[in-house]
Amino acid sequence: MSTMLKQNHRGAYHFSPKEKWMNDPNGMVYFKGEYHLFYQHHPFGTTWGPMHWGHAVSKDLVSWEELPIALAPDEHGMIFSGSAVVDWNNTTGFFEDEPGLVAIFTHHADVEGAEHPVQCQSLAYSTDEGRTWTKYEGNPVLRHDSFIDFRDPKVFWHEPSSQWSMIVACGQSVSLYRSPDLKNWTFCSEFGEGIGFHGGVWECPDLFALPVDGAQDNSKWVMLVSIGDHPDFTEGSRTQYFTGEFDGTRFTPDECSVAKIRWLDLGRDNYAGVSWSDIPAADGRCLFIGWMSNWKYANLTPTGGWRGAMTIARELELRSRNGEVMLVQQPARELKAYRQPVLSLGPKTVEQASSELSGLRLEIFEMHVRMESAQSIAFKVRAGAGQETVIGYNGDTEAVYVDRTRSGVTDFHPEFPCIHSAVLEDGEEGLELRIFVDRSSVEVFAGGGRVVLTDLIYPDSASTGISVFADDAQMIINSLDIYELSV
Ligand code: FRU
Repeated sequence: MSTMLKQNHRGAYHFSPKEKWMNDPNGMVYFKGEYHLFYQHHPFGTTWGPMHWGHAVSKDLVSWEELPIALAPDEHGMIFSGSAVVDWNNTTGFFEDEPGLVAIFTHHADVEGAEHPVQCQSLAYSTDEGRTWTKYEGNPVLRHDSFIDFRDPKVFWHEPSSQWSMIVACGQSVSLYRSPDLKNWTFCSEFGEGIGFHGGVWECPDLFALPVDGAQDNSKWVMLVSIGDHPDFTEGSRTQYFTGEFDGTRFTPDECSVAKIRWLDLGRDNYAGVSWSDIPAADGRCLFIGWMSNWKYANLTPTGGWRGAMTIARELELRSRNGEVMLVQQPARELKAYRQPVLSLGPKTVEQASSELSGLRLEIFEMHVRMESAQSIAFKVRAGAGQETVIGYNGDTEAVYVDRTRSGVTDFHPEFPCIHSAVLEDGEEGLELRIFVDRSSVEVFAGGGRVVLTDLIYPDSASTGISVFADDAQMIINSLDIYELSV
């Protein structure tokens, strides 16, 4: 383990750059056995600054190797968020013998004397598996005259219409474009007016199809839209999603997407996440990663030498429930290979489980809890010296919650210490919690991933206690498994 990895608060199984600032994940693409993760990076400071694309690769979505910076600012401006694809059929003409990677990103320029910055979309390509990149001489390939906020293009191949589709944020809506070659883009439609949450700028959209309940002949489209921070909302930046239909031109939302606002994650720290491109059909998963922070306090978090981490990679699925199709998230299954079993309890009362936990000290672990009947219960993790992070279920409100008010260093922003919850309505199905704890985060997957809460915490490294509480100490926990995660 390098000295950097021992640095306080650096996650063991969460990606962070070796040093300096990181925000959004960008350009995630799978190619020739590697998962590529690019990211918004300021290589000269630990706060947001002139944006580059940092780069890391992994064979299993858990262990990442950081590579040299992929894209640096140029005469068109900084390199903001965007996506990457494999141009299998050389639609761009950038490649000779072998297919290669194309990045589609936003150029952001502060123009002297101009009222507002200019944002436009540009291309770069790589013929050596993402190790080096050439910017396209025809950049930018897409401009918009009337918008300040025109950014974060997510591009994918739309098979039924044999063309590239782009979804890009445009003020408080998203625009859809199409192209035969990634260079020439035609406007198709706009989505967002009068629907969804508008308490902040729309950013980092994504659009992909997923089978409903695993049925390949019944799929739906999912649109993700991240919403920037706004002083009126304590939640800060967060990501909403819509389900519906997409015909290559227009997105038509389902009724449940029109009727209510749906959030991807009810914790505070999962932002700007999008899906991986070009996952082989034989794998078939929709893989997602988010930036584990919040614009409300991202520049203030108490880490030294580095700042910003990604969530664990997740598998996204669509499940129908009570007449509604909803997005569920599961931790990427690759994480299981890193488990070191620590404790495995069969049916026990809370009192018995509590005594089994009393001697345990763990900093970096996964905990899996199952109860046949969903009743109030609370787990304390990363506990010690006046510190604790509480993860629980409240039977009265049927909600899962995270309380990080005493989680360690919390005073760097007044809205960081907080309790937040998400209704699970799990009553008849019992309660299932999968909790991932690292040096500076907790990720809670409840009800098979129907409810997810992702939260940063900054406890002392010595705060490693774990305990369980319930009003009824004789209540039964059907199983409790704890694994250290050793990366
Ligand atoms: C989202 C975002 C994007 C933008 C990038 C700049 O967090 O604001 O819209 O491209 O960050 O770093």
